[in-house]
Amino acid sequence: MDDIESLLKESRNFKPKADFSRKAVWNPKTVAEMRKLGEKSPERFWAKMAKENISWFQPWKKTLEWKPPFAKWFVGGKLNVAYNCIDRHLEGENSWRRNKAAILWEGEPGDSRVLTYGDLHREVCKFANVLKSQGVKTGDRVAIYMPMIPELAIAMLACARIGAPHSIVFGGFSADSLRDRINDVGAKLLVTADGGFRRGKPLALKATADKALTGTPGVEKVIVVARTGETIEMQKGRDFWWHDLMADASALCPPAKLDSEHPLYILYTSGTTGKPKGILHTTGGYLVHVATTAKVIFDLQENDTYWCTADIGWVTGHSYVIYGMLANGATTLMYEGTPNTPAEDRFWSIIEKYRVTIFYTAPTAIRTFIRWGEAHVKKHDLSSLRLLGSVGEPINPEAWIWYHRVIGQERCPIVDTWWQTETGGIIISPLPGATATKPGSATHPFPGIQTAIYTEEGQEVKPPNGGLLVLKNPWPGMLRGIWGDKERYKSTYWGKFKNVYLAGDGAHKDKNGYFWIMGRVDDVMNISGHRIGTMEVESAIVAEPHVAEAAVVGRPDEITGTAIVAFVTPKQGVAPDDALREKILKQVVRGIGALARPAEIRFTDALPKTRSGKIMRRLLRDIACHKEIVSDTTTLEDYSVLAKLRNEE
Ligand code: WTA
Repeated sequence: MDDIESLLKESRNFKPKADFSRKAVWNPKTVAEMRKLGEKSPERFWAKMAKENISWFQPWKKTLEWKPPFAKWFVGGKLNVAYNCIDRHLEGENSWRRNKAAILWEGEPGDSRVLTYGDLHREVCKFANVLKSQGVKTGDRVAIYMPMIPELAIAMLACARIGAPHSIVFGGFSADSLRDRINDVGAKLLVTADGGFRRGKPLALKATADKALTGTPGVEKVIVVARTGETIEMQKGRDFWWHDLMADASALCPPAKLDSEHPLYILYTSGTTGKPKGILHTTGGYLVHVATTAKVIFDLQENDTYWCTADIGWVTGHSYVIYGMLANGATTLMYEGTPNTPAEDRFWSIIEKYRVTIFYTAPTAIRTFIRWGEAHVKKHDLSSLRLLGSVGEPINPEAWIWYHRVIGQERCPIVDTWWQTETGGIIISPLPGATATKPGSATHPFPGIQTAIYTEEGQEVKPPNGGLLVLKNPWPGMLRGIWGDKERYKSTYWGKFKNVYLAGDGAHKDKNGYFWIMGRVDDVMNISGHRIGTMEVESAIVAEPHVAEAAVVGRPDEITGTAIVAFVTPKQGVAPDDALREKILKQVVRGIGALARPAEIRFTDALPKTRSGKIMRRLLRDIACHKEIVSDTTTLEDYSVLAKLRNEE
């Protein structure tokens, strides 16, 4: 059996509401035209988007130069990302946006700041001059290790303004991870903060950075934002306060006229094996991709208030908290802290306070909200919401329906967006004014992009069977390489099929041409000769009303080849007993069939997750097999979860 069998049956279907379609940035007629153009000529489609959505100092000569697996987009074009995200909103017919909110910021303790486009321009120009005065030149890499505060956005845009690629390291990473990333990218300057607020307390960052800095000979200067006011050490000659340097900086700083392929940033992401990969994104193509998809998929209207809950330290934050949003002159909200500080209704209180209209979050968060219960949501007025989004992992249909019913109040379309750090921007997603959605399906590729499902041998799989998700042609936001490792770039993404990008995810297409993502391929289990996606079993388990969250892994079994072990977190107040075990087994058999029946169900209070909320199945696999944990645990969010799981053996 080569194909991955798809056993999840989902027949619910949600058509866009006529009123939404009529007012949409792309109405159904435009969507049809754009799909047609994208099919006929991806290059012409993207060239049209590049003209409509981005301002160029110098037009490009060639839309695409494709020497597989290396692509160049908008060759010969010159532009600046910070200019596109800020300056052009202060000029000409858009100049009224000078006093429009660019960033609405809410600190965890409840403090808040608003930066208009005019404010953002001043702060970014000043910090760009600070960087220059500290010796940063075009092409030099700047590392950023910060909490979710406005200075993080200012720092990244300042880097973009002078053409110094940034490498942002999520503030939850350890000193070792920070050190390795700084060294791999060769950064000469680090921007950080004394700390940030999380779970009601100041969380030190500078102290962690100091540990990392003992092993980073290339870093000459460190700039520190005062956020928490905690006492920290400042090394003379190396460390400077942000506010001291900014006090004297000029607010005049012309944007650098950069080549379309000039590096914009490097962002590290973990591979299945080996050290993290520094994913390289460049200027023109990336900006065209994220600006276009932000506008169309989130249906950005001038008066929207958009909130993406991702940390800027992840790609979702890069593309859809900052670059894609500001390029459109939108208002983007940033929140510093956790969803349950001071209480489990914090997100809903923020939506009510700022009248958020578009909300973009992750399935893992949605399942957490389900566990906490609807009462927290009901305390708040969410009537401002008009569009919801999901990203990061497959959303199980029951979570989708809950999101639709409880948060969207059956009024808001949901865009389930599939993409990766490597793709730069969204690849598969509904277009909210035109696509009828099915809970759990990311639906169709964006116009100009061709996705397909291949067998191991590189044949297209016939619906409804599953296989490997691939991208058949280059797209503007695609990674340009792995920093310092050309060979790994070639072998990881382009080594399996000729001139075709391997995403590493399993997927299937149904008879209506809808794509369903089934999770990473290394999460696929082979049970009695049937390859079954962990996600499908998890979805079935979570459909049992007493279950909050589940993760499924395979362990070797003499009879079936692989047996399924399910780690299950019951809802609060539900007893983890044999009666619940029985209910779960029944649910799986009902939802998928007897062949997906877990051999073992283990109850747990929490699942091991990365800091971005992905369940670490590798660790669970080791535990399920009663093996020593040999996998890399450096990205684990909470080590105590692992200890508890092991002690329960
Ligand atoms: C998974 C996050 C199903 C997928 C933007 C992918 C998804 C990996 C979805 C990339 C989705 C992301 N449905 N799975 N809508 N979105 N994924 O690099 O396995 O952090 O390969 O980028 O997340 O994760 P990354």
